[in-house]
Amino acid sequence: MKSAPPIDRMTEPGIEDRIADLLGRMTPGEKVGQLSQVNAAGGHIPEDYAHAIRQGWIGSVLNEVDVPTVNEIQRIAVEESRLGIPLLIGRDVIHGFRTVFPIPLGQAATWNPDRVREGARIAALEAAASGVNWTFAPMVDIGRDPRWGRVAECLGEDPFLSSVLAAAMVRGFQGEHLDAPGAIAACAKHFTGYGASEGGRDYNTTDLTERALRNVHLPPFRAAVEAGVATLMTSFSDIDGIPASAHRHLLTTILREEWGFDGLVVSDWESISQLAVHGLTGSDRESAFEAAMTGVDMEMASRCYIEQLEALMEEGVVPVSRVDAMVANVLRVKLRLGLFDDPYCHPERLPEIGNPDHLEAARRAATESVVLLRNGERDGSPVLPLDRDAVRRLAVIGPLADEPAEQLGTWVFDGDPALSTTPLQELRERFGGAMEIEYVRALETTRDRGHGGFDAARTAVGGADVALLFLGEDAILSGEAHCRADIRLPGAQEALIHHLADTGTPLVLVLMTGRPLALEAMVDRVDALLCAWHPGSMAGPALVDLLFGDASPSGRLPVTFPRVTGQIPIHYAEKRTGKPATPESFIHIDDIPAGAPQLSTGNTSFHLDVWYRPLFSFGYGLGYTSFHYEHLACSAPELTMDGSIQVEVDVVNTGARAGDEVVQLYIRDPVASTTRPVRELKGFRRVHLEPGERRRVAFELTAADLAFWGRNNTWSAEPGHIDLWVGGHSDASLHTHIHLVSP
Ligand code: BGC
Repeated sequence: MKSAPPIDRMTEPGIEDRIADLLGRMTPGEKVGQLSQVNAAGGHIPEDYAHAIRQGWIGSVLNEVDVPTVNEIQRIAVEESRLGIPLLIGRDVIHGFRTVFPIPLGQAATWNPDRVREGARIAALEAAASGVNWTFAPMVDIGRDPRWGRVAECLGEDPFLSSVLAAAMVRGFQGEHLDAPGAIAACAKHFTGYGASEGGRDYNTTDLTERALRNVHLPPFRAAVEAGVATLMTSFSDIDGIPASAHRHLLTTILREEWGFDGLVVSDWESISQLAVHGLTGSDRESAFEAAMTGVDMEMASRCYIEQLEALMEEGVVPVSRVDAMVANVLRVKLRLGLFDDPYCHPERLPEIGNPDHLEAARRAATESVVLLRNGERDGSPVLPLDRDAVRRLAVIGPLADEPAEQLGTWVFDGDPALSTTPLQELRERFGGAMEIEYVRALETTRDRGHGGFDAARTAVGGADVALLFLGEDAILSGEAHCRADIRLPGAQEALIHHLADTGTPLVLVLMTGRPLALEAMVDRVDALLCAWHPGSMAGPALVDLLFGDASPSGRLPVTFPRVTGQIPIHYAEKRTGKPATPESFIHIDDIPAGAPQLSTGNTSFHLDVWYRPLFSFGYGLGYTSFHYEHLACSAPELTMDGSIQVEVDVVNTGARAGDEVVQLYIRDPVASTTRPVRELKGFRRVHLEPGERRRVAFELTAADLAFWGRNNTWSAEPGHIDLWVGGHSDASLHTHIHLVSP
């Protein structure tokens, strides 16, 4: 697949002239004001705040979503400040606004850029109707540590998948034109390395090499920039000794000089003043200096710029030209958004918030995001989908069956639980007349350790034809600063499953979760397992459709599920090592004979107490039909540096139901100037196939797709043998190869 086309910035001569004109008329104080973002007072305008806007000391406000208040602060800015510069109004619009879509990790499980784009478009429309003109999304940090609470907010573990979906989200938020009604500026965050926080503990140090940055962490940011993202946010991370908000190499060399980004870079919340907490600077003055000189244009929440930058400029410590460049980046985004022409929010010109079309789109996204991980058999037939005619008594168990707010997940400041339909509501609505539905919550929350509700649950399950268990993680267990050191099901949920498992009734576990969980200890005790992430407003309709076969599960894992927490980090694109584990060399702790202190384990790379493969691999997901792959072929045996080849495969729906398959293309460069991952995703395509239908699916591959940051520290593709696999997950076995040849 070709990478996204280069940024079409248009030359925008009018905009650059207007920036120059404004800069020529601004006082130093007004310039620094444009670089300052303050938190809103929330629905009212204290006099000191109005005064600061009038003086031009505020460039952006975050967290104001009251339309009259937004319009009034814009009015003060444009009518009462000397130069009439409008405000950027920022908000974390992460996966929907009032209508909530699946958490970003769930949206990534759709492997469907159209779906992701649609979700962002609707989020933008609803946010714009509330006065927001800038969202702090998408988060495109690579999530390879499920302990990290913000893995919920990312687009998975893989640079390619994240890149495609990041671009889709940017296009959704920003629409065709940034100045069109309902378009809001997107913000690719957190630049960069945040996902690599050591131990999965938020804000922790990262020790990333240039190669890891280039090959793994930077590609989604680059894709966002190529898709025209208006802004970027720095990360909280200390990267190899330099916090990201003072990282010249990232912010200037790579972002501006290599990628040609001309939008705005905002700090994260107080991350400039935190340069002193990191120990990089000794004062706010030094922090302002570092951040300004290395490339942060706007400061979020802390006050280093507003209090220090003017003096630094007057003393000549920070050149005026540097500050002018920062201000120009801010003004450029305001001009691109059309705020100088009309800064006001006009909700009446936009679709109604939470309208049925928005909810229908949220339902589509939720449906496609659910991943069927296990579907055991009873009496020779798969447990799912359930046959509505055969279920007379249904037990519904668990603290997440009927929680309108919990199903929305993390980062939903504006999410409206009143728009939610829960699974229990939907089941009662659809089947209440036809089947007996008994609901037992069993646990107050997913964290509840009490066993008080176990027996009532067991009685309900024992008397039912099938039991639906809605378990997982409360929304509060994910998100910023909500990391977990042990990612098994929290509280007494594992014990509850064991308590219900021998009733003889089929157990269908629906997991609502913000992260992959370590399920090894209970996965065999349930008959079927659906991972629904936090599905958003329409969890109920989507899940009931899937459970009863009105829709077929088609989500695929955007992250690896480890067996146990101690396997982390574990992801599909690992390096091979010099001693890769094999089934033959693996020995389990239980199989080590007593009295054999010197027993050789084969000296390969594994843990003694757990099988070395993950529980569920990246890309994995079942449906209600089966797909067969055959006739994998390349259009030529050789790929030239400036050419392309087609990789084609037949995909056949061999089951009795229609379904969507996500066809995935992986490569490996087996001998290179630096070691390369055992597999890398390079293409994917979601296809719908009727029973018996066969489709030839093609991917285009160019040398650029095979390029990486090699030993000579440049981005290039290296000639030689390239392995290719195509299939429905990252362990696909259908294989061929090509040769990449030099001219
Ligand atoms: C988070 C950002 C977010 C910002 C504003 C920070 O704490 O790291 O992702 O956009 O707050 O709410």
